[in-house]
Amino acid sequence: MKKRVGILTSGGDCPGLNATIRGVAKALYARFGENVEIVGILNGYHGLITGEYKEMCEDDFRGILTLGGTILGTKRTPFKLMRVVEEDKIDKVAAMKKTYKDAKLDCLLCLGGNGTHKTANLLSQEGLNIIGLPKTIDNDIYGTDVTFGFHTAVDIATEVIDRIHTTAGSHSRVMCIEIMGNKAGWLTLYSGIAGGADIILLPEQPYDIDRVCAAVERRARKGSNFSIIAVAEGAINTEEARMKRKEWMAKRAEAGYGVTATNRIAAAVQKKTGMETRVCIPGHMQRGGSPSAYDRVLATEFGSYAAKLVEVERYGVTVAMVNNRVVANRLEDIAGKTRNIPEGCELLTVAPAETLKIKTSRCVMQRGVFAFMLQNEPPDEPPKPSESTDEPPEELDSFWGGS
Ligand code: F6P
Repeated sequence: MKKRVGILTSGGDCPGLNATIRGVAKALYARFGENVEIVGILNGYHGLITGEYKEMCEDDFRGILTLGGTILGTKRTPFKLMRVVEEDKIDKVAAMKKTYKDAKLDCLLCLGGNGTHKTANLLSQEGLNIIGLPKTIDNDIYGTDVTFGFHTAVDIATEVIDRIHTTAGSHSRVMCIEIMGNKAGWLTLYSGIAGGADIILLPEQPYDIDRVCAAVERRARKGSNFSIIAVAEGAINTEEARMKRKEWMAKRAEAGYGVTATNRIAAAVQKKTGMETRVCIPGHMQRGGSPSAYDRVLATEFGSYAAKLVEVERYGVTVAMVNNRVVANRLEDIAGKTRNIPEGCELLTVAPAETLKIKTSRCVMQRGVFAFMLQNEPPDEPPKPSESTDEPPEELDSFWGGS
């Protein structure tokens, strides 16, 4: 039977989107031959709302394995506005359903992060046949051990930390490097460990500035003329951890150090330790360029698994990696949840001694609670997930951007 498969990329881009699109397409052509038609929705959910899409052919998917960005374009279309009718008077959900119908889609593949998955779940509940694919450099999608794009970003951030070491040493400076990751610390933790950062500040472990300064001074006393501090863009201090997000955001705005903690940390370290301090923000460089070999393989695995789900018509799910196996989670089970670094995560025990370990309740256990393993073919119904006893994260929307 002929299948028309829609595909879109939504939210912030990352390396590996094109590799995943290609993986999906190659596997679909392999499984269905001439009986598949692929429709590219442009610029994420925005294109689904405005009806911008194009018929794709096999040639469109050639030569894109190593290409950064997304050939389909992407946009942030915040989930929280999906049900809100704005000035343009467009009912977005109705418009998306109309485009799906007009394009005569049998199913729609949504490549994206947390916000994308919330809208994917909404569309699924509205009766569309949806399959998600987990993309983000933040690695914070619930129910999967890894997302594509993450390891490339780790490589990039690690190289930044490596390079900063030499200039920090030459100038006897403290360097604060701000690493992306939204409200999850995975990217900072991995690159901080891989790059040998001396202090790693994570959103999951609110920091105490006195302890940060003490750690810098301790290193200086032991003969190190420089220190590297890897600061997650979502890092907050212990005082902020006791406040509501709105409150501490307002306090930060008033203090004038910007929306993240990095500049404030650098200023405090310079003042307290007397060491010259600089800030480095690699920013969107962490999302640009070609995917790493690991991400190319992961993207291809995820893409071809999605094609298998299309063949067996297993919808309302998203592709995931659990314990090194590619599986599918129900969208309704993962949408609206975030995967933070759990307390007791092994990597925290190997992180530099100065990594500040302060307990927090914002951690969500990461793995497997509601993944179901696929043997040869997906079963009709995944088992019901067991209830997580972890507290859900207090704030689920994207910190800096929407989705
Ligand atoms: O979710 C990916 C990410 O790069 C986050 O790490 C970061 O907080 C955010 O997107 C930046 O968003 P934007 O590209 O909209 O500035």
